[in-house]
Amino acid sequence: MSNYHIKHLEEYYQVYRKSVREPENFWEEVAEEHFLWRKKWDSVLEWDFKKPSVNWFKGAKLNITENCIDRHLTTRGNKTAILFEPNNPDEPSEHITYSELYKRVNKFANVLKENGIKKGDRVCIYVPMIPELAIATLACARIGAIHSVVFAGFSATALATRINDSDCKMVITSDGSFRGSKAIDLKGIVDEALDSCPNVTTVLVAKRTGAEVFMKEGRDVWLQPLLDNASNECPAEIMDAEDPLFILYTSGSTGKPKGMVHTTGGYMVYTAYTFKNAFQYTENDVYWCTADIGWITGHSYIVYGPLANGATTVLFEGVPSYPDFGRFWQIVEKHKINQFYTAPTAIRALAKQGTELVDKYDLSSLKVLGSVGEPINEEAWHWYNDTIGKNKSPIIDTWWQTETGGMMITPIPFVTPTKPTYATLPFIGVQPCLMDEEGNELKGNQVSGRLCIKFPWPSMARTIWGNHQRYKETYFSAYENKYFTGDGALRDEVGYYRITGRVDDVIIVSGHNLGTAPIEDAINEHPAVSESAIVGFPHDIKGSALYGYITLKGVGESRNHDNLKKEINQLISDRIGPIAKLDKIQFSEGLPKTRSGKIMRRILRKIASNEIDNLGDVSTLLNPECVQKIIDNRL
Ligand code: WTA
Repeated sequence: MSNYHIKHLEEYYQVYRKSVREPENFWEEVAEEHFLWRKKWDSVLEWDFKKPSVNWFKGAKLNITENCIDRHLTTRGNKTAILFEPNNPDEPSEHITYSELYKRVNKFANVLKENGIKKGDRVCIYVPMIPELAIATLACARIGAIHSVVFAGFSATALATRINDSDCKMVITSDGSFRGSKAIDLKGIVDEALDSCPNVTTVLVAKRTGAEVFMKEGRDVWLQPLLDNASNECPAEIMDAEDPLFILYTSGSTGKPKGMVHTTGGYMVYTAYTFKNAFQYTENDVYWCTADIGWITGHSYIVYGPLANGATTVLFEGVPSYPDFGRFWQIVEKHKINQFYTAPTAIRALAKQGTELVDKYDLSSLKVLGSVGEPINEEAWHWYNDTIGKNKSPIIDTWWQTETGGMMITPIPFVTPTKPTYATLPFIGVQPCLMDEEGNELKGNQVSGRLCIKFPWPSMARTIWGNHQRYKETYFSAYENKYFTGDGALRDEVGYYRITGRVDDVIIVSGHNLGTAPIEDAINEHPAVSESAIVGFPHDIKGSALYGYITLKGVGESRNHDNLKKEINQLISDRIGPIAKLDKIQFSEGLPKTRSGKIMRRILRKIASNEIDNLGDVSTLLNPECVQKIIDNRL
């Protein structure tokens, strides 16, 4: 039996038990079976959640791009590695074979070197969903530079914060990006960001929209001529298994984003292994994940996981609604997609359109459907299952996080059962548990609590860039010797997990994690604002949307409130990005507070969700009188 590919339910249980009983032997066998190591490890796992410190495959040497590219050249040189589908359906798609990918990554890697980038340097990648995004990412990995991909929908301020936090000396971007009917001036955003990033010396600019852009002398360079002159060969830098591979920022409970650091060996093994099994990928399948590479889903399951398995992975530049809401299904038909991985927010938006635009296309190639990023509600699950999967393609509801690097709780299609709205069983090697608020583990089934993980897995983030203390406090301090996820979950009568949502100050809007603190900080910058509190409320399409309660300075001030709402949303858009705009803004004379002055968001959350009959315990409120007013004026 191969440990690498699980095909039957008995195998799942057998392999799972082994992965828990003897994790080191298990992961050693997986690592030996499939990958290319320049040197084997001295130890499989050394860990201590108290420090916290986790080392997988310590002492091993490798380069992840040799595993994702070079290793496939003899057997899959002419196979499509990356299938690029442009925003405009009339523009031809591009099939980049493994041999071509090898050349393009090497050329790019040489350009990085010629521009002074060395092993360990941080490079910020702010590029839309075009092949250069994946290629730049792999080129960094080729030479051991640490990539920090920033989603190209973030604002200049958000970009600058991320560039400075990890002290990137280079930014890779493009002249612009296409999204639906719009062209966006990405280079302009970079220019604005760089006004406050003194350490960036080089900007490489890919051409995409052909828009005329400002090029700063001595700093900005067009990429293409450099690539044309670069060699096709660039030896892979030999990395330590625990050398950082990338930094990826995620929201937290303070205004500052957390730069999650992922390392090389364990991340490779785990993303490759989960990809193979969770999608049951077989050699000639065409796999499509609709996420953006700017998020962890794209890192692990557009780039590294699929390529480490020699897969064909689709990279789609556009949006589900352009030129119409049939675009996803048209692509499924066109490229005969076998595995399709998307987010509940997209499913809900598409379900709303009815079936006409689905029925137009042949979806018979689909074998596995995936969902990620937020809880999938019952209705969306059934629509996905019936209308898209025609009841024959299992849905894998994959629960995981930027911090976990790879899928943690998910069905394995055709192997383990699915259940609507349930992420079901832990993946091989994952040891989840549920905790109560007092710190006791909840044993047995039919319990709900806070989701923790008891034992290290290979792709877990190792630290927060520049702030190990914050890493420890955020993830390892709530419960002794356990990784705390920030999510709540229940375990049903047979042991399946259902994720119930965040229990901290993170709100998931359309699958994007948004911390309340950075949004409130942005709002509070407005001169008319005294204070603010953001909560989530249920939304048909987005899952959750944002509701802002805002108190204004100066009582007698006459302000046009509609304008003020616009200004506040503009400020949020400038500081973070359009994804963080508020759906509802309620101005209020006061906000409910505890005696120690903390805003009672719990109450605001209930009001925003219209659960006003049961506000919970209000006895500790300092100013109960404001609550009724807020209820009366709710939107
Ligand atoms: C949520 C995305 C329910 C969860 C890979 C988690 C989910 C956060 C699911 C991480 C799911 C992700 N069911 N909730 N299948 N997948 N989440 O870092 O709250 O962008 O903590 O990683 O999304 O979001 P992130």
